[in-house]
Amino acid sequence: MLSGKNVLLAVTGSIAAYKSAFLVREFIKSGAFVKVIVTEAALQFVTTVTLSTLSKNPVYKDFIKDENTGEWNNHVDLGSWADLMVIAPATANTISNLVSGKADSFFLSTFLSCNAPVFVAPAMDLDMFKNKSTQSNIQLLSKRSINVIEPNEGELASGLEGKGRMEEPEEIVTYINNYFLEKATLKNLNILISAGPTYESIDPVRFISNHSTGKMGYALANEAQKRGANVQLVSGPVSLKTPENVQRIDVKSTLEMKKEITKRFDKIDVLIMSAAVADYEPKNIASNKIKKQDQEISIQLKKTPDILKDLAKIKKKQIVIGFALETENGIENAYKKMKRKNLDAIILNSLTDTGAGFGHDTNKVTLITPSEKREFELKTKDLVAIDILNFVEECV
Ligand code: C5P
Repeated sequence: MLSGKNVLLAVTGSIAAYKSAFLVREFIKSGAFVKVIVTEAALQFVTTVTLSTLSKNPVYKDFIKDENTGEWNNHVDLGSWADLMVIAPATANTISNLVSGKADSFFLSTFLSCNAPVFVAPAMDLDMFKNKSTQSNIQLLSKRSINVIEPNEGELASGLEGKGRMEEPEEIVTYINNYFLEKATLKNLNILISAGPTYESIDPVRFISNHSTGKMGYALANEAQKRGANVQLVSGPVSLKTPENVQRIDVKSTLEMKKEITKRFDKIDVLIMSAAVADYEPKNIASNKIKKQDQEISIQLKKTPDILKDLAKIKKKQIVIGFALETENGIENAYKKMKRKNLDAIILNSLTDTGAGFGHDTNKVTLITPSEKREFELKTKDLVAIDILNFVEECV
């Protein structure tokens, strides 16, 4: 479950900090990407070189990166990069700071900025752990949906025996893995998503296409894999990185896209057609480059097959979702399109709102089903993907 996830590990000042090196290694072994924040106190127990070598990333400590240039570390960016944040070891002082809402360090500011699930692995001497303040702080963290990974009983650095030893790195990773397994709401579901534009050849050099960048489809694929689905992404030509754990099938033309989706259709549970498939293709593809001429030329176009409509017609158990890009009477036209194509839902894309549509990182959509209409605010395509997959979860 951790493969492809962005893990932000914060190491604070306890002797158990030496185990953070093993923890980084465990995360890397499970396929996660790791970035580490250290506090000043943590550096008395472990070095940045160890952590940066193991995590393959620079280690963060302060806001200021370079005094001369004013270059700084952005806590908000780092917080939103993380799919999960792990604070291990978490000292009594750290736990108290987490509860207080203080933001007087890079670490605490990043913690406050992070909306991802947080896991705290306390490490301290037995009496510090038993202390009513610590216990009440831990309860407060739990109440705020922060996951506290109970420390172990055993020999402590002080020489005393009791509860306070940080959980072992392997166990921490297992705990987090199980957390995500439970949340894997689309586990075992086969989802096929189409994305990007299609290229319809005119001659060996030119083609007809559109402005689609594929961002929406790729965000959907990424969100679906995060929820444990088996994701196949049939993608037109785009310059985007394939999300982790996603099987990408590259295609160019509508006909190729149709072939790749159709042969998989029987075995999938959900089809989301977010690709901007061309509606027309040249009737004849010239075998040689068309020569420039003085007079105007025209290219005769014929209709491409409607992949979505053809497949939704023969759907059995599959949930089929389409996209609609309308410039006028959006809701009405999208609703009609959903009915005409026999879809379970259609996502109406806005082109008229600033920041929505092709190429943007944001989108404003309305989800329309035969029985309801959900309008969403302008938000990032990653967040739009969450809304759409929440709907898929309701359907399966
Ligand atoms: O009819 P229109 O092109 O507006 O429909 C858009 C929806 O249909 C999108 O989900 C798109 O991926 C899909 N589509 C298709 N095959 C086409 C054209 C569009 O599957 N030839």
